[in-house]
Amino acid sequence: MNRRGFLASGLASLGAACGLPQAKLEPEPSRVSLSDVKRLVVQRVDPIAGRCRYVADLGARQVVQPILFARRGESLDALVENALPQPTTVHFHGLTLPQAEDGAGFDPIAPGERKRVRFEVQNRSGLYWFHPHPHGFTAEQVYAGLAGLLVVTDDEDQALDAALALAPGNRLALAIADVRVGNGVIRPYAPGAPDCLHGWLGNQSLVNGRLDAGWVVVPGWVRLQILNACNARGLLLGFQDRTAGKESLLPFQLLGTDGGLLAAPRELDRVFLYGGERVDIALDVSGRRALQAVSLEFDPRHHAEGVAPGHRHPARARYAPLSAEAVCENASELRDGPADGAQIALFSLRVEGASVRTPPLPARLSAFPEATPAPDTPTRRIRLDFEQRTGFLIDQTPYAIDETGFSVGRGAREVWEIKNSPISMPHAMHVHGFGFRVLRRQGTFGAARRLATETGGRFATDLGVKDTVLAWPNETLWLALDFTLPREAAFAGPQRYMFHCHNLEHEDGMMMRNITVL
Ligand code: C2O
Ligand code: CU
Ligand code: CU
Repeated sequence: MNRRGFLASGLASLGAACGLPQAKLEPEPSRVSLSDVKRLVVQRVDPIAGRCRYVADLGARQVVQPILFARRGESLDALVENALPQPTTVHFHGLTLPQAEDGAGFDPIAPGERKRVRFEVQNRSGLYWFHPHPHGFTAEQVYAGLAGLLVVTDDEDQALDAALALAPGNRLALAIADVRVGNGVIRPYAPGAPDCLHGWLGNQSLVNGRLDAGWVVVPGWVRLQILNACNARGLLLGFQDRTAGKESLLPFQLLGTDGGLLAAPRELDRVFLYGGERVDIALDVSGRRALQAVSLEFDPRHHAEGVAPGHRHPARARYAPLSAEAVCENASELRDGPADGAQIALFSLRVEGASVRTPPLPARLSAFPEATPAPDTPTRRIRLDFEQRTGFLIDQTPYAIDETGFSVGRGAREVWEIKNSPISMPHAMHVHGFGFRVLRRQGTFGAARRLATETGGRFATDLGVKDTVLAWPNETLWLALDFTLPREAAFAGPQRYMFHCHNLEHEDGMMMRNITVL
């Protein structure tokens, strides 16, 4: 099949799988420079399924579901317009921003209102993303399609592309979500009580807004920056070589994590990626013809059973759901489709073109220091627990939007000891505003154990800068945080950030605390 035939068949199967509306609503996103965005409109396009989208207004043209690109140091100055029937915010996950621009939900934009958002990108190159964060509505709005990518580049990032001799179409930024498809259409967000406890799972993957997504690449290195944008599904990412047989996994090079490049690449054949986490990887596709990215089967270790919590947010009482469905109220919802940890197909790569000699990977990718906090760094102990009536909580404390939460000094360094209870499930713990380092893990069992190949029981992904880190049941992790903020007027005065589980049903379900930086 030629390139056009492949794309056309992808589109045809998309049309067949979900009908015309989805094909119209979720076209292939196109790249937009962050500083060109004048307005970012958040809108609902389909009140029946509740599907939503971002539209970037660049003045001369409008781009639906854009992938944003920025060089480090570039700025955004745009009006965010909320055309949803619910409050919303735009949170830039992973960026270090002042509270006023973080979009964390302290100051949601009411339906029909607009807000000016202005900031400069200070972070290292890497894959970041933006999504709604209005407390109580986050899970529903992200599931509805509101998850956008922001690719940040800098000199190191461009030097790497040059060293890999990367063909233009061989670098992709991918957001992997999962959606429930029934009778050929994407079903609305309608979690029953069990879904609000374990998280809302889809039965098919949706990559950059497309079902059955596939890309054509040319032989050589392929660089993929991948986000897990699922509400709750964990992914154990691997690449099957279809020509070499189903069991053969193509090894790949881990180049970077949430907050940019590693010091040196690491060869892997699978990697865990939970909600909010990103990986940057290189695949040598020379001599290959067709690859299928899958989430491999694994034991997801959901050990907690119990009554599910309702989302009793005062804000939800005033606004209808995005579709005509109740949220977290039904006693049971048919859990059709693959469970968490079941194997599912993610996207495919078709390799076309004449073979080339793939250059060797550079031995150093980035110059940044090992994580070694001073021995007298104070430790903050944090417990992730299950509470029968409320669900999963941080330190047994349900979230309150006006709480101080953890209060830390500006510029303070802390070690966070996060202990997940044995009767629990995996929680992807995310800190706003500050990248951190993983120092050590203890008590890791299950499928993750064999991936704990680095010093201190760490995974290869723990070697990079993280803003979201998975805590397996029974695990204790130690993180090094540095609460230094830029010395700019926008950061003056106390700044409030958030710490929460990125299983979005857990986040809306009160597994969140504020961090006040004084
Ligand atoms: Cu990606 Cu507080 O979130
Ligand atoms: Cu975030
Ligand atoms: Cu959680």
